[in-house]
Amino acid sequence: MKSSIIWLDSVDSTNSEAKRCVSDVGSWTVISAKQQTHGRGQNGNKWFSEKSKNLTFSLILKDLSIRSRNQSAISEAISVAIVDALESYKITARIKWPNDIYCGKNKIGGILIEHSIMGDKIRWSIVGIGLNVNQRIFPLEIPNPTSMFLCCSDQDIEYPLDQVMERILFKFEEYHNTYLQNEDNLTGLRQIYQDLLISVKDLHL
Ligand code: BTN
Repeated sequence: MKSSIIWLDSVDSTNSEAKRCVSDVGSWTVISAKQQTHGRGQNGNKWFSEKSKNLTFSLILKDLSIRSRNQSAISEAISVAIVDALESYKITARIKWPNDIYCGKNKIGGILIEHSIMGDKIRWSIVGIGLNVNQRIFPLEIPNPTSMFLCCSDQDIEYPLDQVMERILFKFEEYHNTYLQNEDNLTGLRQIYQDLLISVKDLHL
C-alpha cells in the first residue's frame, strides 16, 4: 500500500492536523488519532467518537490527476471503499447521499473532505473518515448511531482498528488506480456508487 500512517494519541481534529502539515508530508500520508477533542462533521457539526473505540483518520492526497470539476469522484471512491471494507467483515452497508455510511437505518460512518483548489487543479484533498467500530454506547444527542460491533452483536468480538483502516485504504487505492487516475473511467465508478445509494425514503420505511 502507498499510505504511510502517523498515529496520534490525541488531537483536536485529524482533518485540522492534516491541513497544518499538508505541505510537510507526502501524498498518501494518513493522520490517525485515538481521540479527537474537536472532531468535525459536515455542515459545521461536531463528530463524537469514544477514545480508542473507533476510527478517526484523515488521508492526505496531493496532486491527483483528477480535475476539480470531478472532485465528487473522490467522495464516491472513499464511500464505496468503506462499504467494501465493511462487506469484507460481512457487514452490509449503504451510502446515504452524498457520503454518509449507513447500516440499515443507522449511521455507522461519515466523511468530511476538504480540498485546496486552484483553477481546474486540486492541489490537495484531505479525506477525513469517522467510522464507528467498537463503540457500544453512544450519547443520546447523536441521532441514530451504530457501530460495526453493534451491527454484529451476535459475536462478542472487537475489531482491530488498524486492520479495518488498512482494508479501507487498500480498497480506496484500488478505486483510485482504476478510476481516479483515468477520468474517462469515471462513469464506471459513478455506477458502482449509485448502486450503493439508499434513498431518504428507505430510511423512513
Ligand atoms: C459527518 O458525517 O458529518 C462527517 C464526519 C467526519 C468525521 C471525521 S473523523 C476524522 C476526520 N477528522 C475530523 O475532524 N472529521 C473527520
